[in-house]
Amino acid sequence: MAAITMKNIVKQYGDGFPAVNDVSLDVQDGEFMILVGPSGCGKSTLLRMIVGLEDITSGEMKIADRVVNKVAPRQRNLSMVFQNYALYPHLTVFENIAFPLRLAKKPDEEVRRRVTETAELLELTEHLERKPANLSGGQRQRVAMGRAIVRQADAFLFDEPLSNLDAKLRGQMRAEISRLQRRLGVTTVYVTHDQTEAMTLGDRVAVLRKGVLQQVGSPRELYEEPANLFVAGFIGSPSMNFLPATLDSSAEGTFLETPLGRFGLPDKITAAEIGDRDVVLVGIRPEHFEDASLVSEEKRARGTVVQAHVDVTEWLGNELYAYVPYEAPEDLAAQLRDLSRELDSDQLRTQAVVALDPASMISEGQEAELWIDTSRAHIFDPATGENLTRDEERVAALGRQAEQARLRQRQAQAGQAPTGQAGNGATQAKPDQEPPTSPD
Ligand SMILES: Nc1ncnc2c1ncn2[C@@H]1O[C@H](COP(=O)(O)OP(=O)(O)O)[C@@H](O)[C@H]1O
Ligand SMILES: [Mg+2]
Repeated sequence: MAAITMKNIVKQYGDGFPAVNDVSLDVQDGEFMILVGPSGCGKSTLLRMIVGLEDITSGEMKIADRVVNKVAPRQRNLSMVFQNYALYPHLTVFENIAFPLRLAKKPDEEVRRRVTETAELLELTEHLERKPANLSGGQRQRVAMGRAIVRQADAFLFDEPLSNLDAKLRGQMRAEISRLQRRLGVTTVYVTHDQTEAMTLGDRVAVLRKGVLQQVGSPRELYEEPANLFVAGFIGSPSMNFLPATLDSSAEGTFLETPLGRFGLPDKITAAEIGDRDVVLVGIRPEHFEDASLVSEEKRARGTVVQAHVDVTEWLGNELYAYVPYEAPEDLAAQLRDLSRELDSDQLRTQAVVALDPASMISEGQEAELWIDTSRAHIFDPATGENLTRDEERVAALGRQAEQARLRQRQAQAGQAPTGQAGNGATQAKPDQEPPTSPD
């Protein structure tokens, strides 16, 4: 096992385009780190530089305490799982998993022991003699993982390993990978463009945009305290709504004038912090709206009630989505459209998506009263994208909480999973003592 430390990593391909631009990122020993971002943002390039399949233009890549910039891939002792599992069709599951051990010319006895252990861990024992063609997608994915973990690598690297699977299987495999990583406790870097995978799998998530690192934090930190407009829009589904707003100060106080109505300024920001910006973007997640008629008096007082024209509704049983179009100045509307395109989303246009209690009777074409939990709103600078309402103290507290949770979880696992990484002497339980010989 090993930590992976990246310092000012840059990758320029032939035409000088920086696919990865000055990324500094520390993956701790045993940590599960997710690299996420839209297609083309440089995730695979960064992963390939860790493994050594791609040269590093500048910066320093360290694995454990060794600088590996010039170290050949096979000398780095890392294991990679690709999107297309790359199994050998003519070999059995056993031999597919055994492949890296055969390559390393390990003795038969050791190969058998380690493949058997790995197969047990992945619940592949009964399939060991079958060929990949006869397996389901999920089983093939497990064989690919088996081949990665059988070698006792210092770290696992995954490049979108689940993107070829259907939604249901993806959910199952997600749970399995998560369980396996926690059980083995091996440092893992996992690339995906899917924000759900990012939110559910990792200890921490690193968000990339056009080769530049935007934010690194626990899923909860990214959701509750996004650093900027891009992270706020990328994390969460459906995406956060962004409403243009101007500041209105009067004797009664300071308010935000938005296309959906007038809100009180959230407590976490002062008018002075907004300064002389003519316009800001107010970010409100769909789940922070509610049908005002279903909100208690006490809760009502915490937020703001607005009148809104509901254009379309979608009743999903467990949730009711309502779409509320609004007007925005053309320059901001254009900016929101660009952001939406960059996020590969067809949302975020000048239409708020709100998630209501399915008990709500609000229907299409209605003027409805919506309650907004304005205490949870974020305010962004439209020019820089910066989140002006980010609470650094809370960010630090969330970071500590996530780190403690990770350590607790790993300790619990270490206590109950004596096998550790398949066949890894260092983490394996000591062989049982000889049973006391019975007196005869
Ligand atoms: N071999 C290459 N030569 C030139 N440009 C490349 C090469 N590989 C990737 N790129 C470019 O680098 C950027 C990042 O690519 P990649 O790391 O594959 O993104 P992601 O995995 O996030 O989708 C893209 O703009 C892509 O076109
Ligand atoms: Mg990729």
